[in-house]
Amino acid sequence: MRHDHSSTISRREFLAASSTAVLASGLVNPAIAESSSAPKLALHGGEKTVKQSAKLPIRWGEPERERLNAMLGQDSLFYWKGPQTALLLERFKKVCPVKYAMPCSSGTAALHIAVAAAGIGPGDEVITSPITDIGTVIGVIYQQGVPVFADLGTSTYNLDPADVERRITPKTRAIIAVHLCGNPCDMRALKALADKHGLVLIEDAAQAWGARYRDEPIGTIGHIVCFSLQNTKHITCGDGGVVGSNDERFGPLLQRFGDKGFDRLSGGLFESFATNYRMSEPQAAVAAAQLERLEGIVSTRARLGNLLTEKLAGIPGVLPHQVDVRDRCNYWFYMFRLKPDGFRCDRAEFVKALSAEGVPASAGYIPVPLHRNPVFLKHGFFAGRWPVREFGLTSMDYSKHETPEAEAILRTGVKITIHEAMTDQYIASVAEAIRKVARHYTV
Ligand SMILES: Cc1ncc(COP(=O)(O)O)c(C=O)c1O
Repeated sequence: MRHDHSSTISRREFLAASSTAVLASGLVNPAIAESSSAPKLALHGGEKTVKQSAKLPIRWGEPERERLNAMLGQDSLFYWKGPQTALLLERFKKVCPVKYAMPCSSGTAALHIAVAAAGIGPGDEVITSPITDIGTVIGVIYQQGVPVFADLGTSTYNLDPADVERRITPKTRAIIAVHLCGNPCDMRALKALADKHGLVLIEDAAQAWGARYRDEPIGTIGHIVCFSLQNTKHITCGDGGVVGSNDERFGPLLQRFGDKGFDRLSGGLFESFATNYRMSEPQAAVAAAQLERLEGIVSTRARLGNLLTEKLAGIPGVLPHQVDVRDRCNYWFYMFRLKPDGFRCDRAEFVKALSAEGVPASAGYIPVPLHRNPVFLKHGFFAGRWPVREFGLTSMDYSKHETPEAEAILRTGVKITIHEAMTDQYIASVAEAIRKVARHYTV
């Protein structure tokens, strides 16, 4: 695959060049030249490989209705001492055994609470991934911290600990490890770095509900963990989040940093400053019911994603999504990469051909690494300005910030939807379609 469109040979040009000699010999009928080598692509009028689309998952129903009905019988819908919130936290702690947890309005809110509790302040650097939702760094920037983007593993799409270490400076205060697609980061290496340099390790588990690092539930190795309950996540209440911690330095601060700085346990005067990120009882009711569905959703997705990897093995030019066999990835989505120059088509055509075969495929995830977005390039976070740079607390220039592997991942990744209503047979047909398209375009 080539990145430069001007140098990409079109399929027609390639076929013309490569088959001229054979056709000239008179040995092959031009009409069947293509079909004699490989099955005809659906894109070119051939038979579709994935004949039936997958059923959509049923995401909510009676259990959620039951909890909502109970909630409507209450005389308060406020989170503090609310029975739905209490149930949500009880069930959450079974999935992610932490001593302290605060339900909140989004994953972005959970991350903001985490960095505030971690004490991130003006000019403090926080190292994280450039391939993530912008919510990973919104809180850092609001605390006047400086996101520093490190490069990623070629096929894990997660932080490369060696590159994280290279980017540590005396100003570094924290690492936010994003478990992209629910694929656990190399937590042992990141924790060792955090311990060595005295950094707070925050886990962005927005996409990682129910994932496991080795034998540990995700979120129990870092100091603070953040989950999202936004609509596209494995479990949801429309919008919501949970932030948790086992650490006595940060755990007791989570509630107040989600609740305008007010410590509801001790009452009293404001000791800290924060915004309002509270979740309410209707959201908690739905989220509590959703947690009962989690294991079923995650175990199915983990099986299907691993099956796809197994079936893609050995296809020239296709680099499967890399997951450590000791971990459990929940495949929020699956992404394989096309090897540069492995195919005589560009990624857009590869994806078009896959879609025509009936595969739920799209090009990449986000269009560019976070720091390639205009708001970063212009350093224009607050009314077009960035106080920490203006006051000399950072010299960060995002237009010069390089993460070459992340750029390459976003140029060559092909995203495949995986969900819990899919079957093993369906995934097998998806793999067959990928093999067919790859074979057609292979160099
Ligand atoms: C990795 C990651 N971090 C943070 C967030 C932010 O979560 P929310 O949309 O709930 O604010 C998301 C949401 O997509 C995410 O995927």
